[in-house]
Formats: sequence, structure tokens, C-alpha cells
Amino acid sequence: MQPADLEAVAALTKRADPFGWTLRNFSDALAAGNTLTVIEEEGAAAGIAAVMHVIDECELLEIAIDPDRQGRGLGKRLLEEAMRLARANGAVRMFLEVRESNARARKMYTSHGFEQTGRRKNYYPTAEGREDAVLMTASLA
Ligand SMILES: CC(C)(COP(=O)(O)OP(=O)(O)OC[C@H]1O[C@@H](n2cnc3c(N)ncnc32)[C@H](O)[C@@H]1OP(=O)(O)O)[C@@H](O)C(=O)NCCC(=O)NCCS
Repeated sequence: MQPADLEAVAALTKRADPFGWTLRNFSDALAAGNTLTVIEEEGAAAGIAAVMHVIDECELLEIAIDPDRQGRGLGKRLLEEAMRLARANGAVRMFLEVRESNARARKMYTSHGFEQTGRRKNYYPTAEGREDAVLMTASLA
């Protein structure tokens, strides 16, 4: 991801997830040296993944596909590329947090080797109240 991608990436993330990252979050992550990967389709940004590295572990901080392009395999390809890059950067494990209600994302993570390792009660805000975060981990070894 380049600074020139910021607006398109922030716009698609806002459409994909009302609670997702803002332009400021992406800009801060770029400045902090996180690994930000854009997947393009027909020359346009179609999705974004953000990964933070800490020594030999990493965390998937954000992943989103433009709603107009979801359900066609782009999310899987982006997750696989994020895991490949993390492995190439020396990470042996990847962590993430996902809303309990996000069945689509949880299924994608499970089919890519992620296992549930914990839960944070009432972690995320929702339109009606709060919901749990499910903590997941995958080995990259
Ligand atoms: C989660 C997200 C990134 C997946 O991207 P996508 O391009 O729609 O997903 P893909 O087409 O690559 O499908 C990936 C897997 O998701 C699951 N999936 C896809 N569509 C689904 C649906 N309608 N219902 C249930 N599971 C579904 C399947 O497991 C699928 O794998 P399979 O085809 O081998 O069964 C995307 O839906 C998104 O941006 N959601 C909003 C933001 C978000 O929730 N991010 C995750 C935060 S932790």
C-alpha cells in the first residue's frame, strides 16, 4: 500500500464495516511500519489487510473487501497473501480478533488454520449494545 491508496482504501473499508478502520488508522499504521497489503481488481483497490509484527509473532489488525466485490474469493486470496508475507517476515504465529457474530470471517479464518484461543466479553460495540470478541491464532510454521 502507498500513501496514494489511502482514500480508496478508507472508503472501501467504511463501506465494508461501519466499525472498521478510518483513513487516520491506515495512515498511522503506514507510519508505524505495519504491513499493509492492497488487493486490486481492474486497477482499483478491492480490499486491504493490515498486519503488525512483534518479534516473531504478528497480528492481523484489519481485513476488508469492498462489498461490491465480496464472496468471489478475494478475501481468501488477500488473507493468504498476508499470511505469506508475515511468514516471509519471520513470523511463526498470527493472531486476530473477530466479532462473534461475523460468521463469514470466522469461517474464512478457520479454513485457513486459525483456531479459537480465547474470548473477550462485550469487547465490541454494536448498533444495539456490545458483543464478544473471539480470539484466534494460526501457526505460520
Ligand atoms: C470477511 C471478508 C474479508 C471476506 O472476504 P470475501 O471476499 O467476501 O470472502 P471470499 O469470497 O474470499 O470467501 C472466503 C470465505 O468466507 C466464507 N464466506 C464467504 N461468503 C460467505 C457467506 N455468504 N456466508 C458464510 N461464509 C461465507 C467462506 O468460508 C469462504 O470460503 P469458501 O468459499 O472456501 O467456503 C469480507 O466479507 C469483508 O470485508 N467483510 C467485512 C469486514 C470484516 O468483517 N472483516 C473481518 C474483520 S475480523
